[in-house]
Amino acid sequence: VTVDRRSPRCIVRYTFGERIVHMVAALSYVYLLLSGLAFWMPAFYWLTILLGGGFLSRILHPWIGIVFTGAVLWMLVIWWRDMMTTDADRAWRKEIGKYIRNEDDRVPPAGKFNFGQKQFFWIMLWAGIVLVLTGFVLWVPQSMPPSLRPLAVLLHGIASLVTIGAFIVHVYMGLVVVPGGFSAVMRGEVTEEWAWHHHQLWAAKVTGTSPRAHTSRDVASRP
Ligand code: HEM
Repeated sequence: VTVDRRSPRCIVRYTFGERIVHMVAALSYVYLLLSGLAFWMPAFYWLTILLGGGFLSRILHPWIGIVFTGAVLWMLVIWWRDMMTTDADRAWRKEIGKYIRNEDDRVPPAGKFNFGQKQFFWIMLWAGIVLVLTGFVLWVPQSMPPSLRPLAVLLHGIASLVTIGAFIVHVYMGLVVVPGGFSAVMRGEVTEEWAWHHHQLWAAKVTGTSPRAHTSRDVASRP
């Protein structure tokens, strides 16, 4: 058997199921975001052209909201252990300035997800729960006490703005700042070098090696 030494070794980062649930969350979120903006402000109403029209998108928005919350709850089921804050996260958080300044070699090692990724998940989960509960109040007004409505409108708006802020950072990080992340979440695999560079503790775990035995440079310079 000939081994092609030029092709880097790959590690599975996201299983098929993980990629599907991410895809469902991403597509449903984008639909909710665009239709929500359209209902919120007349200046955005034209967006409904892309979403099946004003009438249909108003019917679909609450149902797709349930799909989105379901996807994030499913992420909780499969990733809750990976999303817990650890001592390594506390060390990472202290040194967050180095992460922001791209001093990657001096950032404390992270597990499967770094502290920022974990925070993004929790923000989407809690905001998603607020959105689905307040959305329900707005969906079936005839079965709700009228006094709840203004509060639901306010909280639905605040929670959606929180998710928009988090979403912009998430997409920017995933598409621009961390090359390789997007192909990971679409195709499932990352190179071993990527894993050591961005998620050293996770790389050590999946390859069964000691974290100290490697630096990202060691892996990069291997033949
Ligand atoms: C539609 C645009 C989206 C894009 C382009 C996108 C991109 C990405 C990328 C590239 C990763 C892999 C990061 C890595 O492993 O280094 C990722 C992971 C993830 N995405 Fe998304 N995503 C999108 C929407 C969403 C939405 C709406 C959610 C809602 C909860 C979400 C939740 C997550 C979570 C929890 C992870 C794993 C942890 C993390 O990286 O924060 N994504 N996404």
